Amino acid sequence: MSKATPVQPEAVLFDAYGTLFDVYSVGLAAEQLFAGQGQALASLWRDKQIDYTRLCSMSGRYRPFWELTLAGLRFAAQQLKLPLNRESEDRLMNQYRHLSAFPENREVLQALQARGIRAGILSNGDPDMLAVAIKSAGFADLIDPVLSAHSVRRFKTDPAVYALGPDALGLPARKILFVSSNGWDAIGATWFGHTTLWVNRTGGPLEQLDTGPTRIGSSLRDVLSFFPSH
Ligand code: LAC
Repeated sequence: MSKATPVQPEAVLFDAYGTLFDVYSVGLAAEQLFAGQGQALASLWRDKQIDYTRLCSMSGRYRPFWELTLAGLRFAAQQLKLPLNRESEDRLMNQYRHLSAFPENREVLQALQARGIRAGILSNGDPDMLAVAIKSAGFADLIDPVLSAHSVRRFKTDPAVYALGPDALGLPARKILFVSSNGWDAIGATWFGHTTLWVNRTGGPLEQLDTGPTRIGSSLRDVLSFFPSH
């Protein structure tokens, strides 16, 4: 944990991919297909997927996250010289559709619900893929609202995406705790004005941009430190 809380948040918005859903779990499926290269493929796939969101967003050429996820996979496989065919592509994309959730997530979402704190998602994911992921993880009764970048046809870190939260929740940004495992996303949300928690699951370095999230934690459980249970 880094800093004290400047304001008491009244609701939580979670990033989806990497924060609630474990994107690197596709590495296991990839390893079965391409022995010795699974983690490299998963990691490059993720980087390229996010790279494409920025490229398309900045150039005003929005395409849904699902399409960019597929494009990222095709690029990563070519870069690593892996023979991705229709079957292996379908298998990996299907795995992406049904990602595992991190083990502590359910209890954290349940604890927030028990404390009367509204907890939603704000994601680059398009509504279809978010709906499947939420259902697969069994989180349908625990997440509300589900806000997608698709509605503004731009991707994070465009302020138009973060603005969806205050609009939907009727709260100023600083009263919404935005939680992400992606350091860059936590910074984008901090710049927008949210109270933020960066869940630094991998112990990676802070973005070197002369700013930081409100707090840094190591698992989703750290969300609860913002909401004492008494
Ligand atoms: C998301 C990506 C950035 O869910 O993880 O928005």
